[in-house]
Amino acid sequence: MTLSPPSPDPQENGKRSAGEAALDFIQDGARVGLGTGSTVKYFLLALGERVQAGLRVHGVPTSRETAELARQLRIPLLPEQAEWTLDVAVDGADQVDPHFHLIKGGGGALLREKIVAAAARTFIVLVDHTKCVPVLGKPMPLPVEVTPFGWPQSAKQLQALGGVPTLREKQGTVFETDGGHYILDLLVDSIEDPVQFEARLNRIPGVVENGLFVNRTSTLIIGSPDGVHITHCSSRSVS
Ligand code: A5P
Repeated sequence: MTLSPPSPDPQENGKRSAGEAALDFIQDGARVGLGTGSTVKYFLLALGERVQAGLRVHGVPTSRETAELARQLRIPLLPEQAEWTLDVAVDGADQVDPHFHLIKGGGGALLREKIVAAAARTFIVLVDHTKCVPVLGKPMPLPVEVTPFGWPQSAKQLQALGGVPTLREKQGTVFETDGGHYILDLLVDSIEDPVQFEARLNRIPGVVENGLFVNRTSTLIIGSPDGVHITHCSSRSVS
């Protein structure tokens, strides 16, 4: 395999080493959920090389961006509107707590990411060491995907949960997800009980999905300056 050149930035090196380590979990013939973001991109580049060398896989991309990269790398894709049983999904995260609960959605792909993670027998999470935190929350806002219709109502209810919601913008205009929704980035001091918080978020009308991934991680791969650390987690709940 042609490794990506090392970067002078330790965080970037952590992303690369985590991404490349995930390749060991992909078997010939596997159906693979393909995550979104700058960490999983290293996994996709490495996977693309293997595919071009003869590995047979089929992927389900979690965003248009990932679909485009997968096509460039000639990774075959399954139809979007189908029932897939995936052997594994591989994705990044914005924060990981000691119980392997996650905040995801910094790139806005949380809805498809959660659907794909739930369709996979195992969910492999790739992070660099800076993403590991004692408790989820500030300074990372929790992305909450909402319908454009009546979004200020959803924002008001999110605020009542004790957070500060901000409508996400990109280049001066409202950010729209691949599904045509908006994102409210909810700044919460600390999410002490992610299981309960996720349930409360899902009860708010207009909330399509939220970026808390609770009890979903099967394997955590951390790329850090002292090497790659792999932890197999036992808390995953199967959907
Ligand atoms: C995409 O919406 C996100 O869930 C990403 O998986 C997450 O933000 C991690 O992205 P990076 O690997 O770019 O930090």
